Amino acid sequence: MAKPSQATWGGRFSSGPAELMLRFSESVTFDRRLAPFDIAGSKAHSAMLAHVGLITAAERNAIHKGLDVIAAEIVEGKFVWDVKLEDVHMNIEHALKQRVPAAAKLHTARSRNDQVATDMRLYFKSACVEVVAGLRAVQRVLVDLAELHREVLIPGYTHLQRAQPVSIAHHLLAWVEMIGRDVRRFAEVAEHANICPLGAGAIAGTTLPIDREFVAKELGFVDAKGRPQVTPNSMDTVADRDLFLEFASAAAIAGVHFSRIAEDLILWSSAEFRFIDLPDTFCTGSSLMPQKKNPDAAELLRGKSGRLVGNLTNLLVLVKGLPMTYNRDLQEDKPPLFDSHDTLVICAEVLAGTLAGAKVIPAACAAAVADPLLLATDLADYLVNRGVPFRDAHHAVGALVKCAEGLGVPLPQVPQDEAQKIHKEFAKDWPEVFDLDRAMEARRGTGMPSPAQVKKQVARWRKALAE
Ligand code: ARG
Repeated sequence: MAKPSQATWGGRFSSGPAELMLRFSESVTFDRRLAPFDIAGSKAHSAMLAHVGLITAAERNAIHKGLDVIAAEIVEGKFVWDVKLEDVHMNIEHALKQRVPAAAKLHTARSRNDQVATDMRLYFKSACVEVVAGLRAVQRVLVDLAELHREVLIPGYTHLQRAQPVSIAHHLLAWVEMIGRDVRRFAEVAEHANICPLGAGAIAGTTLPIDREFVAKELGFVDAKGRPQVTPNSMDTVADRDLFLEFASAAAIAGVHFSRIAEDLILWSSAEFRFIDLPDTFCTGSSLMPQKKNPDAAELLRGKSGRLVGNLTNLLVLVKGLPMTYNRDLQEDKPPLFDSHDTLVICAEVLAGTLAGAKVIPAACAAAVADPLLLATDLADYLVNRGVPFRDAHHAVGALVKCAEGLGVPLPQVPQDEAQKIHKEFAKDWPEVFDLDRAMEARRGTGMPSPAQVKKQVARWRKALAE
């Protein structure tokens, strides 16, 4: 027979929850990481209760002191978490009540529904800062690597077929751009988090004379001018999980970016490409084949993106079709979210470490980029400069490629008389098109891979990342 309930909500119950129910419904094993935010929220809330006269200044001070002691115990690992108390909120409140009589007044005009919404908004602000720092660290390593190898050319690929020459720096800077958008997405999530839910109560606020703006200011939920930001609808406040979806979707997109970068690294480090050598510290060997050095870090980056995508799906399905407003289902919002956060942070660290130790192999890059077919398009542009319509030029160069294949010679070595047969505008100087340096210089428009443009982009990112 279960004992009468000791829970904070136990008044109307003649029996406490079954042991199985406790194990099933507890969240403290994972939501305890919200403790610092929960304590900050409780301090702000009790400061407000004192401000409006619902508790005395002495009671507020006692609550604050008690919460500080609990915070220190948690940091030191001395705090005893109890699954019987369900979640982080009740564990802390219970511990406080045992030390401070005034703690019985702390939950005045507050529900765990607006409390958890507040904890999570504070959590999102801090998580976004951490994620952005990790992403920027990856960008910094990439910009360093790009600067170091500004002169190294490689084939650029479409359909994983050689397309046109680019510098490896240009390729690396493409990744920097991708991650730059991720940074902006997380900055936006942090901005959306900047609004205070406290005061929404369980669903419909409170009849007590609270001051929501006071709490918002205490917790830093303010705009650029220092004006407090509070949520405008109490029902939406406790039902809303959009931030979870936004954070998880920004994490999923960043994860997919990482997996694409990882795939390039895996290809580049294969014997077939050999553009780079990955650091031993982020590779592993085979238990059977002594010669192997496998790009496991990159493969795991590619693999872990699956979790990030899965977590987003998990959250979308969790929220879909829930009736207004709060439902206990929503407790399940935290594990996938925390996993996305932790996974992305370690992925960023591993990617930065892998890239920092990667060595570019210039000889292999040079051999690959020496393929004259990479400049077939430049030859079409040559004809265009001589007044040939592009479609005709494209066709003529195609015929020249076919001719070279038939003769078994590299494209620039097709004899002049054969070239003339294909198009009269192939003047004597057409083979000069295959000068790689000249070809790169010519791509001088904004966003193109000329050395001058790449230098400019490196400088632009250096400045942006120094801020
Ligand atoms: N642990 C709960 C959660 O994470 C806190 C809110 C509980 N509210 C409630 N009405 N049972 O969702």
